[in-house]
Amino acid sequence: MKKDFLSIRDLTREEAHELVERAHWMKAEDFRSNLLEGKTVILIFEKASTRTKVSFEVSINHLGGHHVFMTPAESQLGRSEPLRDTARVLSRYAQGMVVRTFGQDKLVELARHGSVPVINALSDDFHPCQVMSDLLTIFERTPEFEALNIAWVGDGNNMSHSWINAAVHFPFRLNIAVPRGFEPRADILQEAKDLGANINFTHDPLEAVREAHYINTDVWASMGQEEEKKSRADAFAGFRVDDRILEAAHPEARVLHCLPAHRGEEITDAVMEGERSIVWDQAENRLHMQKAILEWIYG
Ligand code: CP
Ligand code: NVA
Repeated sequence: MKKDFLSIRDLTREEAHELVERAHWMKAEDFRSNLLEGKTVILIFEKASTRTKVSFEVSINHLGGHHVFMTPAESQLGRSEPLRDTARVLSRYAQGMVVRTFGQDKLVELARHGSVPVINALSDDFHPCQVMSDLLTIFERTPEFEALNIAWVGDGNNMSHSWINAAVHFPFRLNIAVPRGFEPRADILQEAKDLGANINFTHDPLEAVREAHYINTDVWASMGQEEEKKSRADAFAGFRVDDRILEAAHPEARVLHCLPAHRGEEITDAVMEGERSIVWDQAENRLHMQKAILEWIYG
């Protein structure tokens, strides 16, 4: 059975914890191997990327493999070749696909029709590799997840959905604050709660960050929502991670942002550059977590 990684829910609780610990060890060891020797992984990106693209390319290289990078603009994907055809053809050339796209259904279709593993490198619904890596960033500071309050302040977007999924496997308390009308998907939230996730939901960012050890935010308009940028900026007033938010949190609260950040919108320049920000370690950890994910699939 091939392993796909389309959402954090594809992992068992045990596997999720093992990935974090393994990536932590790989970081300490500056890990290299020949696990992917003779293997090619194809990166298909329908949206822009800096961190995910480069950290996957470098991690494939560190594991001795080869990658091919594709976008719709320079492939037949942009000329409407069906995904199921693309999946079958690419499966004849390569041993995996890392895919950044819009609908989650596209990933499901590639995984169904392809015979090689498919990894979600971000969709409209989820960003599982990012949140697994964020869990590593937290683990290396506070390995006991049980005692932690983690706040999500901003949009009920792909990142928030992956945090909700993470809360199924890790025993932290997740406090989500979003403006009215920008809630995470109710089915994702309900399913996580039914599975025992400790999630609290509010429209008040100051309430969500009270006693928070970690404060997470992300852009107000995700890729594909560029036309809503202006209207969202109005709706999200009050949700900027600034000194006022930090003052309401735990005195040693740390701030996470998956990047790219829009300083002056969802986060202030002072917070981004301040001593509470751990965003650069967070970005680095993408590399270590990608290696752990690839090893989980191919190891
Ligand atoms: N955080 C993240 O996924 O960044 P990129 O869009 O640069 O890959
Ligand atoms: N929510 C953002 C994350 C970018 C890494 C987006 O989807 O654009």
